[in-house]
Amino acid sequence: MANPTLLILAGDGIGPEVMAEVKRIITWYGDKRDMPFDVTEDLVGGCAYDKHGTPLHDDTMAKAQEVDAVLLGAVGGPAYDDLDFSVKPERGLLRLRKEMDLFSNLRPAQCFDALADFSSLKREIVAGLDIMIVRELTSGVYFGEPRGIHTEGNERVGVNTQRYTESEIARVARSAFELARRRNNRVCSMEKANVMESGVLWRQVVTEVHAKDYADVELSHMYADNGAMQLVRNPKQFDVIVTDNLFGDLLSDAAAMLTGSLGMLPSASLGLPMANGRPKALYEPVHGSAPDITGQGKANPIACILSFAMALRYSFDAGSEADRLEAAVEKVLADGARTADLLGPEGGSPISTTQMGDAILAALDASL
Ligand code: IPM
Ligand code: MG
Repeated sequence: MANPTLLILAGDGIGPEVMAEVKRIITWYGDKRDMPFDVTEDLVGGCAYDKHGTPLHDDTMAKAQEVDAVLLGAVGGPAYDDLDFSVKPERGLLRLRKEMDLFSNLRPAQCFDALADFSSLKREIVAGLDIMIVRELTSGVYFGEPRGIHTEGNERVGVNTQRYTESEIARVARSAFELARRRNNRVCSMEKANVMESGVLWRQVVTEVHAKDYADVELSHMYADNGAMQLVRNPKQFDVIVTDNLFGDLLSDAAAMLTGSLGMLPSASLGLPMANGRPKALYEPVHGSAPDITGQGKANPIACILSFAMALRYSFDAGSEADRLEAAVEKVLADGARTADLLGPEGGSPISTTQMGDAILAALDASL
C-alpha cells in the first residue's frame, strides 16, 4: 500500500519553528515505528501572499484536497495588518476550512498534571481537566452573506450575517454525539437562543438529532455567555461542548488558558470521509503566529506536536501511537521541561523550541 500523504503548511511567525519539531517526529515514526509518510510542503498565509499575491495559491488548495491530511502551523503577522481583507493571511486558512468542508473542529482542553499550577485558575479547578470543544467551522457569521461595509446616508455600516442551515447544525451535532460516546457520554450545546433565531434553530436541531439517534448520550443546553462563565467557574462539569463558529472561537481560547498555556492546545478539523475512508482533515495548533517571539527559539512546539498526535488518531487509525506521543509529552512535562510560556511566576530557566523537541524524541525512544 502507498504511504499516507501529508501536506505541511507551516505558515508565518512561529509556524515554521514549531513545525520543524513536528517534522522530526514524523521522521521518527517512519524510522522507529515503520510508519512512513510522504510529506510535501507549501505556503499559506503571509508567506504565500509575499510570493504569489494571495494567501493561498490555487495549486496549494488543490494539493490540500488530495492529501490524507494537512498539517498547518500558523498564519498572520503585523506586516500584513493593513492588507485588504480579501488577501489577509487569515483568508488562506478560512479558504482551506471552507473548501475542504471541515465542519467539525475538535479542540481538546486537557490539563496535564505537571502544569496545573500554571493555569491562571486554582489547581483544584483545573487539575485533571479533560474537555472537548466541538466548534462548527464552515458556516455561521464567519461566512454568512450579506457581509461588508457600506454607506447609509452619511455614515458607514458594517454588516455580518449569522446563518445556519438545519443540515449544518445536524452534522456537527452528530460529530459531537459520536465523540461523546467514546468519552464520558455527555454533550452540552451552547448558543444564544434567548436572543438569536439561529440559536433557537440550533437548539431545536440538536434536540431532534439527539432524540432520533443519540438518546443514550446525556444532552444539556446552555446560553453561550453562561457557558463562558461556567468554563472558568467549574470547567470539569463538561465533557463535550458543541457550539457554533464564533462562540467556539471565543470559548476555545478561554478553555486554552485552563490548561496553563495557549502553547499546549492542538486541534483537528474534520470533514466528510474521502474515497479511502479517511476524513478530510487539517490539524493545527490553536495558538497563532506569535510575532513577538518569532525567530527566537522560544516557541512551545507542544500544541503543534499534539496536533500531529490527533492526526495519528483521527486520520491514520493509530490511536495507540497517538497515546504514545501524548504520553511522551506528559513525561517531559513531568520531568520539568519548560519552554518560556510554561514558566510560572517563580521563573526558572526555559528550554528552547528545539530542546523541547529533543526531550520529546528522547521520551519516544524510551517508550520503545
Ligand atoms: C482560530 C483563529 C482563527 C479563527 C483566525 C486565525 C482566522 O482565531 O483558529 O481560532 O478566528 O478561526
Ligand atoms: Mg481563535
